[in-house]
Amino acid sequence: MQNPRALELYLSKRSRLASVVAYPDRGPWGDASYRGNCSGYLLIDLWATYRPLRLLDPMEGGGTSREVCADLQTLYAEDAPEYAGFDLRDGVDSLVDPIGSDYDLIFWHPPYHSMIVYTEDERDLSRCPSVRAFAECVRAGYERFSGLLAPGGRLAILMGDMRKHGRYYPFGSMISRLDDHRLEGVVIKQQFNMRSNDTRYPPTFVPIVHETLAIYRAV
Ligand SMILES: C[S@@+](CC[C@H](N)C(=O)[O-])C[C@H]1O[C@@H](n2cnc3c(N)ncnc32)[C@H](O)[C@@H]1O
Repeated sequence: MQNPRALELYLSKRSRLASVVAYPDRGPWGDASYRGNCSGYLLIDLWATYRPLRLLDPMEGGGTSREVCADLQTLYAEDAPEYAGFDLRDGVDSLVDPIGSDYDLIFWHPPYHSMIVYTEDERDLSRCPSVRAFAECVRAGYERFSGLLAPGGRLAILMGDMRKHGRYYPFGSMISRLDDHRLEGVVIKQQFNMRSNDTRYPPTFVPIVHETLAIYRAV
C-alpha cells in the first residue's frame, strides 16, 4: 500500500542512517504477507542518504521498494528516483536477463538460501542445491549488479544468517566480504515479527534477530 503521508512523517523525524537500525513497525509499503519482506523505512533511509536518481530492485518480491519509490514520486516529483524492479515470479532472472544499467542505487534483497523457497523455478536463488552453490550465485549477483551501477553509485545487499539442521551459516558476514576495496559500510538491522518468534527454544539456544546490510560503492 502506498502512503505518502507516512513517508513524509518519517522523513520529518528520522535520524541519519547509522550502523544499527530497527524498524519495529515495518510501515505500509509492499505486501506485508509476502514471506521475507522488508521494511520500507530501510528504503527511505537509503534514499535519504544517497539521493539516487535511478534505483533498481532486482528481486523486488512483495514490492516494498516499488511502493516507496511511488510515494517519493508523489511527494518529490523530479527529485524522486526513477524505479526499476524485477522478480523471478514475473519471469525475469536478474542474474542473467536484461534489467537496465546506470543505476545510482541498487537494493538487492535475495533469498537467504533455502530459508524460504519462493518459486518452482530452478533459477531461483532459494533453490540453490547447496550453500556453496548459493555463495557462488551471490558472488555472481555481486559482479553483475556492481557492473550495472552508474559512477558514484551504491549496491546495498540485505541478508540474514541461517541456521539449519544444527549448523549456523553467517551469510551476513559473507555479503560483507565480497569486495574489501569497495565496501563502504555495514548496517545491522534488527528483525521483528518473525515466524520463529512462536517457537519454543531451549535456554541455551541463541535466536537470530538481525539481518546485515552491506553497502558497496561503484568501481
Ligand atoms: C527476500 S525476497 C525479496 C523481498 C522484498 N524485498 C520485499 O520486501 O517483499 C527475495 C526475492 O528474490 C526472488 N528471486 C530469487 N531468485 C531470483 C532470480 N534469479 N531473479 C530474480 N528474482 C529472484 C524471489 O522470487 C523473491 O521474491
